[in-house]
Amino acid sequence: MPSDQAAARAAELRALLHHHAHRYYVLDAPEIPDAEYDRLFQELQALEAAHPDLRAPDSPTQRVLGRVLEGLTPVRHVVPMLSIQTETDTTAAGAVAFDARVRRELALPADAPPVEYAAELKYDGLAVSLRYEAGVLVLAATRGDGETGEDVTQNIRTIGQVPLRLHTEASDKPPPVLEVRGEVYMRRDDFERLNERQREKGERTYINPRNTAAGAVRQLDPAMTASRPLSFFAYGLGDVQGWPLPGEPAATHSGVLDALAAFGLPVSNDRRVVLGAEGLVAFHRDILARRDALPFDIDGVVYKVNALALQRRMGFKTREPRWAVAHKYPAQEQATRLAGIEVQVGRTGKLTPVAKLEPVFVGGTTVSNATLHNVFELRRKGVRIGDRVIVRRAGDVIPEVVARIPEARAAYVPNFQMPRQCPVCGSEVRREKGGIDHRCTGGLFCAAQRKQALLHFAGRRAMNIEGLGDKLVDQLVDGGLVRTLPELYKLGVAKLATLERMAEKSAANLVAALEQSKRTTLARFLYALGIRQVGEATARDLARHFGRLDRVMDASVEQLLEVNDVGPIVAESIHTFFAQPHNREVVEQLRAAGVTWDEHEGAAAQAGAPLPLAGKTLVLTGTLPTLSRDEAKALVEAAGGKVAGSVSKKSHWVVAGEEAGSKLDKARELGVPVLDEAALRRLVEGGEG
Ligand code: IVH
Repeated sequence: MPSDQAAARAAELRALLHHHAHRYYVLDAPEIPDAEYDRLFQELQALEAAHPDLRAPDSPTQRVLGRVLEGLTPVRHVVPMLSIQTETDTTAAGAVAFDARVRRELALPADAPPVEYAAELKYDGLAVSLRYEAGVLVLAATRGDGETGEDVTQNIRTIGQVPLRLHTEASDKPPPVLEVRGEVYMRRDDFERLNERQREKGERTYINPRNTAAGAVRQLDPAMTASRPLSFFAYGLGDVQGWPLPGEPAATHSGVLDALAAFGLPVSNDRRVVLGAEGLVAFHRDILARRDALPFDIDGVVYKVNALALQRRMGFKTREPRWAVAHKYPAQEQATRLAGIEVQVGRTGKLTPVAKLEPVFVGGTTVSNATLHNVFELRRKGVRIGDRVIVRRAGDVIPEVVARIPEARAAYVPNFQMPRQCPVCGSEVRREKGGIDHRCTGGLFCAAQRKQALLHFAGRRAMNIEGLGDKLVDQLVDGGLVRTLPELYKLGVAKLATLERMAEKSAANLVAALEQSKRTTLARFLYALGIRQVGEATARDLARHFGRLDRVMDASVEQLLEVNDVGPIVAESIHTFFAQPHNREVVEQLRAAGVTWDEHEGAAAQAGAPLPLAGKTLVLTGTLPTLSRDEAKALVEAAGGKVAGSVSKKSHWVVAGEEAGSKLDKARELGVPVLDEAALRRLVEGGEG
């Protein structure tokens, strides 16, 4: 690039980066995805490397960002809060490169044994420093620019997980000064619930858990922070006085975290001490495989040299330790263009605007469709066809368009309008008074609703009809072979074999799967019916409470309200469903087709006898010989137990299978009894485990 062009581009990039850094670090309200910011930053870095004369002192590449919010009191960190080097090669090679660098910097000979590392998650939240004096939380501060942060003590005190006083044995004195460094974050389910509430209120939804958590911590009003569900993980130390590090002189980072956990600070169980590059690569791979299943966002993993003596030997590079690296995963937010908006009809007739996107790689997969939730939310976000938008895909949540990137539009684009007629069946579309959802009034006349009802009925957690997926359901409904749920059971091999791409063998398999599905449980059957407001948990509660289907069908609203967790809206929905003759007919026909279950299910609960696992908390880890994780969870819950995600002193049992990880170690450490699958089965039968 000629140097005048390079200079112009560098100036443009600097202006863009200044703008976006301010939005991100000061306002907690970014306009572009982090990945896009990183790309701009790297482009500027490359330009400055190629043309060193362009490296102005005010370039964003020349300083660590983050500033003190006006209104919060500045706090000078006794020990600076460092940042961490980032390995952006998201393949395993990133881990190998770090290990090679560590070995080189420690001048280890080629035949020296592998280096021990503490491998952790990289939580995506806001870094804070918690200062405990004589065991009492006296100060909480954000990172700011690393030297000076903001005093957020009142806000941090509202986070239930942060101990206000360190837990120490009566005989032990807490350290005179202990500064704990860690991350405030928001769990994904908490974030989804928060946004669900915003949607119901017709208010602006939040973009992602990270910014919401960061914004909540840097509030001027602690009551506002308290109304946000925040969580915390400790990952290191700051200023420490009068606390002999646990295990000195052989002290390790992992040992420090164990000690923090013993003080009552939340420390993630998803950490491991591993050996050499091989250990790092395996950790990187294992966590990536589990990333979507974690209850919170991570943007990578962090590797730290475990021995504190070696950390000291390696030291620091201006603002970063040489002994640690953050190894990134593919970003969960990306920018792309909104090519169009389609309307999808769901099982209950709800119309959802779906974004058709220019395909983009987000959170590990290519996304070309994303939900826009409803027309009001779409309007609030100001999204129009042709706009550049931010797409987020994290965990099991379906990809969504979370924001529009503010940019001038080349031409006028009209606002999106919901169709007045169902795009599938042409029936009238209506919106309940004051409600936000548009619905097709076609009911089961609408092929889209019929298809969704069949798919739900066949689902793994409902009747579990293997092989009945969306392609086949499309064919069955479009070909007129199945109009109602009971008609599924009338399908024979001959009829099925007339379908395109359906060999006799697969037809026979489907018939066998249908046959097998007939033997079920009352809870699954109730869930499979697709009654509005009745999810798996409610179906289970109903089955347990009433024991028999006819009792559920004939229950009054008052009787339904007696069921655990059933409120007026749910009770009304169940009552209305069974008041409709055609729904009763569907139930009758299904039973006539041979669908059965044990009618005494739940009878124990009804008679007042406690369920075998009532009040017990179990943790599952590793691969069990025959049960999937979902099945094991269902088994525990059916027996009245709860499944928790991490092991604590309060866990009653840990059920461990093949390749059980840190949870098993933790169980042993805390003396929590460990069961195998067979013992779990005995336990749910009411035996001794
Ligand atoms: S250690 C001396 N460990 O990443 C190294 N940081 O540092 C200090 N982060 O905003 C950081 N998870 O808040 C460390 N397990 C982890 C972390 C972690 C997330 C954040 C930290 C900071 C950024 C860079």
